[in-house]
Amino acid sequence: MRLKDKVAIVTGGSMGIGEAICLAYGREGAKVAVVNRTRETGEAVARKITDAGGAARAFPCDVSKKAEVDAMVGGVTDAFGTVDILVGNAGIMINKPAEEYTEDDWDRTLDINLKGNFLLSQAVIPIMKKKKYGKIVFMASIAGTHAFPNALPYCASKGGVVMITKALAAEIAKDGINVNCISPGNTATPLNQHLQDDPEFVKLMQSYTPTGRAYISVEEMAGAAVFLASDEASAVHGHDMIVDDGWCAM
Ligand SMILES: NC(=O)c1ccc[n+]([C@@H]2O[C@H](COP(=O)([O-])OP(=O)(O)OC[C@H]3O[C@@H](n4cnc5c(N)ncnc54)[C@H](OP(=O)(O)O)[C@@H]3O)[C@@H](O)[C@H]2O)c1
Repeated sequence: MRLKDKVAIVTGGSMGIGEAICLAYGREGAKVAVVNRTRETGEAVARKITDAGGAARAFPCDVSKKAEVDAMVGGVTDAFGTVDILVGNAGIMINKPAEEYTEDDWDRTLDINLKGNFLLSQAVIPIMKKKKYGKIVFMASIAGTHAFPNALPYCASKGGVVMITKALAAEIAKDGINVNCISPGNTATPLNQHLQDDPEFVKLMQSYTPTGRAYISVEEMAGAAVFLASDEASAVHGHDMIVDDGWCAM
């Protein structure tokens, strides 16, 4: 087991990529704090882990609100004793032409996708610094470094995630904390169900991807998250790990 007895917070853990990461961390021996806003869905994922013999609990929290983030991290340390791993994965995407976004669309996207990871980092860094050990993994996107139309706030937020990864790594690598991010390519989750149902989009993705696949599985994304949270990645700092079936290479 590569994460035996490590305490891991996984935001957006109730479905999609986050759920797959929670389940993989549970299998690798971590104690998993499943974080999202909807209590029942987070509890369902925690139950899958405990039913399989692992340790997990749901901690409902809106990552865009500092008071909720601080209370959640306090709850995790009360329940599990510490925090070793933070996966800042919660995210939303709103697709529209640039001129049609409302101020609220922009604020919500940036608050959840970018500010949330800042707030989470602030809450866990003191715990990690004290023991000179920690792993922080943010979920960025290939949209943080490659342009996608009709996704202006999303692209801006993910570019910010790539940059806070590097800025934080530069600041706290010396404290024994690894900060990295993953940039997924097109991964089949509830976030993009509407696109999975669109045969034209599927054909387009297949033609642009060297593997010929339109979608990566959530389990393939979880593999990268296990590696970056493990001691096998002890010398990896400030890295944007692109897991995209080769899409960016094309
Ligand atoms: N799927 C892809 O192709 C793809 C590609 C590149 C990057 N990504 C990134 O990967 C991450 C996961 O994506 P996904 O496709 O797995 O998304 P998803 O299936 O839509 O799941 C999103 C998760 O985030 C939680 N969440 C949303 N807002 C939250 C908030 N304010 N506070 C706490 N939790 C919140 C949701 O639960 P609640 O609604 O109950 O809170 C849910 O657990 C995102 O950051 C996304 O941008 C995905």
